[in-house]
Amino acid sequence: MPNPTLIEHILKSQPHEAHGELSRILARLSLAGRMIAQRILNAGFLGEHGEAGSVNVQGEEQQKLDVLANEIFKRVFETLPSVNALGSEECEEIMYYPDSDRRGKYIVLFDPLDGSGNIDINGSLGSIFSVHRRRGGEGRAELGDFLQPGSRQVAAGYILYGPATVFVYTVPGQTGVNAFTLDRSVGEFFLTHRDILIPEGKGSYSVNESNEPKWTEEVRNLVASFRRGEATVGKRSARYTGALVADFHRTLLKGGIFLYPPLKDRPRGKLRYLYEASPLAMVAENAGGAASDGSLRLLDLEPRELHERCPLYIGSKADVEYAVSKLRET
Ligand code: AHG
Ligand code: MN
Ligand code: MN
Repeated sequence: MPNPTLIEHILKSQPHEAHGELSRILARLSLAGRMIAQRILNAGFLGEHGEAGSVNVQGEEQQKLDVLANEIFKRVFETLPSVNALGSEECEEIMYYPDSDRRGKYIVLFDPLDGSGNIDINGSLGSIFSVHRRRGGEGRAELGDFLQPGSRQVAAGYILYGPATVFVYTVPGQTGVNAFTLDRSVGEFFLTHRDILIPEGKGSYSVNESNEPKWTEEVRNLVASFRRGEATVGKRSARYTGALVADFHRTLLKGGIFLYPPLKDRPRGKLRYLYEASPLAMVAENAGGAASDGSLRLLDLEPRELHERCPLYIGSKADVEYAVSKLRET
């Protein structure tokens, strides 16, 4: 008897009083994941590698697959009126549907394709998603509905496009996180990792060390303590793939810490709060781990703009706590 499918798991977990709207949103997110996984698989011979010839709001060259993945997310919610509007890494403004003024109370934020630098080298990629309920009001969702702390997410997670395609999601108050692996032969995600808790006392530290000249003294000392095996939490190996979702998924399963610290030319770091750090922070906390911006709990941050960036220290609870305390040392 195969393991439960993702859809069966979603339906089994939904509160009995629920109307199924959030379940349908999660089901559509899994559809987007399956569609994007297929595009990635075939991109090489369909001429869909490489640059799209456009620059996104982040000032980054968009890859063709960034644009295609963004379109897929937009399309899967077209016929789901409970989703009022969308926020995407690839779009400067809120994305509305023609009937958004008559749509429901959910909004979805996403990084449609994370780790785009890995596209042409057949490296791991991901999609990250965050679901919020609007703060209230009628008609089209407003910016204030998007600018919410991660603690208010109603669902959060990611899809990892690696040798296998894996769907990970969590909801508030869950203890232990589940991962579902795509069986391409039947197009279904099956539960393969039940109640994941981030291991403590082992794993890797994951940071782009080439940024060392742009770190503060405190960050240099913190990373050096890991590199030299002097961190009080114990020795950690070094791993860095350049795709946040892949580096985070390894940390979720094997333990350790992922860091994207502030840089001299980017005082709030590179990663975006609403559709990268915030959803992964809820996954990390529900798996017994932690996530901080270097001093505050990441899920408590109040974003002031759609593409706000934040430093990210995320992983095993003891490792993140060690990092925050080390960063305080003068
Ligand atoms: P994206 O491809 O969505 O822009 O995200 C890339 C991010 C993240 O995936 C990764 O952790 C980080 O960029 C890597 O940045 P560096 O190349 O500066 O290390
Ligand atoms: Mn990203
Ligand atoms: Mn991206």
